[in-house]
Amino acid sequence: MLLYFSGTGNSRWVADSLAKLLNERVYALLDMAARPSLFDLKAGEALGFVFPVYAWGPPVLVIDILAKLQVEEKPAYVYFVCTCGDDTGKTAAIFSRAVQEKGWTCRAGFSVIMPETYVCLPGFDVDPKDKEQKKLREAVGRIEEIARCVAGRAEKEDCNEGGFPWAKSYLIRPLFNRFMTSAKGFHATDACISCRKCVTACPLQNIRLEKGRPLWGKDCAMCLSCYHHCPKHAIEYGSMTKRKGQFTLEKSV
Ligand SMILES: Cc1cc2nc3c(=O)[nH]c(=O)nc-3n(C[C@H](O)[C@H](O)[C@H](O)COP(=O)(O)O)c2cc1C
Ligand code: SF4
Ligand code: SF4
Repeated sequence: MLLYFSGTGNSRWVADSLAKLLNERVYALLDMAARPSLFDLKAGEALGFVFPVYAWGPPVLVIDILAKLQVEEKPAYVYFVCTCGDDTGKTAAIFSRAVQEKGWTCRAGFSVIMPETYVCLPGFDVDPKDKEQKKLREAVGRIEEIARCVAGRAEKEDCNEGGFPWAKSYLIRPLFNRFMTSAKGFHATDACISCRKCVTACPLQNIRLEKGRPLWGKDCAMCLSCYHHCPKHAIEYGSMTKRKGQFTLEKSV
């Protein structure tokens, strides 16, 4: 069984691709949280988590849902695949620890480098088209390699940690989670055409339209799905995103 969380589609595509190669079931982690009876892991069945890297760690929401998952028997083989634009920092250690806190063991972890989606700070933007396409081409082989490891129940950690992983994950990540994950920064400009695409794109149902304009609630994972799915680039995060690009996997493959 594969469980995924995805904002802009990268992790969903990786989860779907892996599920096909492994001939396994795939579910959205949020559906699992809403309907716990879906989580009917069979004895001996592998359990894989696929999620994006947010600020050099797993999204907080992934850790929270993981903590609540309940199954009668300890899963035989737990692993994760994280998708990132560049590097994972100590994502593997943070996720493995969360798995351990449940009394389970994370046997393997992998990263797949995918198109960049973070745009809300200076210096961060989506990839140029050629880089985006190169990443997507290379990801195909990487997913096949991961599928082979998982099929063989490999016990390994193969993540692209990058430089200064400890500082990024244990110093910067907590600050990011505290100060940079609020939906308060979002607003829609006059370019908005009231199409509701941001409303349907939000995995947490955190957006509603009022007088034809989106209003953001407090339940935000900072996945940026709303920002990237707006057909008019009418969603801004403060003044940080004015000249930034947009990316969704559906538009790129
Ligand atoms: C809030 C946020 C934080 C991110 N932090 C990182 C990061 O620390 N390292 C990295 O390489 N990519 C980072 N990214 C990029 C995503 O991990 C990457 O694009 C991922 O594949 C997106 O997956 P999704 O389409 O399933 O949401 C971040 C993206 C967002 C939205
Ligand atoms: S997706 Fe963009 S144009 Fe459509 S309602 Fe939302 S902000 Fe307006
Ligand atoms: S409001 Fe936007 S950034 Fe926040 S969870 Fe919804 S889609 Fe993601």
